[in-house]
Amino acid sequence: MADDLDVLKQETLVALEAASDTRAWDAVRVGTLGKSGRLTALLKELDRAAPEQRKVRGAALNALRDELGGAIEARGRALDAQALDARLLTERVDVTLPVAPEAIGLIHPLSRTVEEIVAIFGAMGFSMAEGPDIETDWHNFSALNTPAHHPARTDHDTFYLPPLAGEGVASRVLRTQTSGVQIRTMLDAPPPIRIIVPGRTYRADHDATHSPMFHQCEGLVIDRTITLAHLKGTLVEFLRAFFGLPGLPMRFRASYFPFTEPSMEVDIGWNRKTGEIGGGGDWLEVLGSGMVHPRVLANCGIDPRDWQGFAFGMGVERLTMLKHGIPDLRSLYESDLRWLRHYGSSPLSPAVLHEGI
Ligand code: DAH
Repeated sequence: MADDLDVLKQETLVALEAASDTRAWDAVRVGTLGKSGRLTALLKELDRAAPEQRKVRGAALNALRDELGGAIEARGRALDAQALDARLLTERVDVTLPVAPEAIGLIHPLSRTVEEIVAIFGAMGFSMAEGPDIETDWHNFSALNTPAHHPARTDHDTFYLPPLAGEGVASRVLRTQTSGVQIRTMLDAPPPIRIIVPGRTYRADHDATHSPMFHQCEGLVIDRTITLAHLKGTLVEFLRAFFGLPGLPMRFRASYFPFTEPSMEVDIGWNRKTGEIGGGGDWLEVLGSGMVHPRVLANCGIDPRDWQGFAFGMGVERLTMLKHGIPDLRSLYESDLRWLRHYGSSPLSPAVLHEGI
């Protein structure tokens, strides 16, 4: 090898060895193989050499370029590995640091109330049933002993759907109550029955305490020897568990519903001034209930001489507002994130009885 090439080779290898970081290494690479690098310059000069010289010199230059190229690449890899080792030595993961909280969303208080109702009745052996929001007039009213022109129909500001083709009068409504699912369940399978039915309901009504769409939760128990005592015991158990107040005062008041006989409204004790549930001397109605009317059983093909039972229905909004001290019903539907962060509950803590609902 010509002397000048030998010098270039030695100097480059020494410089490479001395390059202790990527920046120094890159300077050597560019200074040798770059556009105006030393080896590149020698290769360019080759054009001007005599042909017989060009052959020998060319071969030597190519060999040197391969050799130095390989050496540069190897040094680059070594420097990368060194840098990684250094980082691994200095950077440490502190496994004892708390995990950064991840925003996973919250359960809306209405959904939470439904979960809690289902959990409490689930523990009493009820199963959950559902029905359609668009209900037939027959399931929503007639089968529940509320035939056309029955005065109780006017209590519900019903949304009637347009009649179907060929139909004289509208046969479909947005259900005004979850009670229609009683009918569906009784028609579906023979007793015994023990169900809880959460769901959306609709009435043409809108103010601080009414919304055109709201939620109810229905209950139905049918068996051979079910009495009013079972109804009272079940509702006392439920309301005390739901509000977490073992001594919650309760009052059963005679009332009227077309589909129960006798019918009762249930009040809980509260303080009208402070809104506090429990003592306080005032009463607040929270649900309707009664013994299933024999005519309703008969409408579903169940013989009222063999079977009897109780039913109840409650407003999910009212229970939610009472439990959380929410003053305005409309705030439940505003989707205000600040509100949801305040009243929402964690999906990681499900509603279960052993947590003391
Ligand atoms: N469906 C009734 C309403 O919307 C509530 C109700 C009362 C349901 C008594 C029942 C019951 O099952 O037995 O006002």
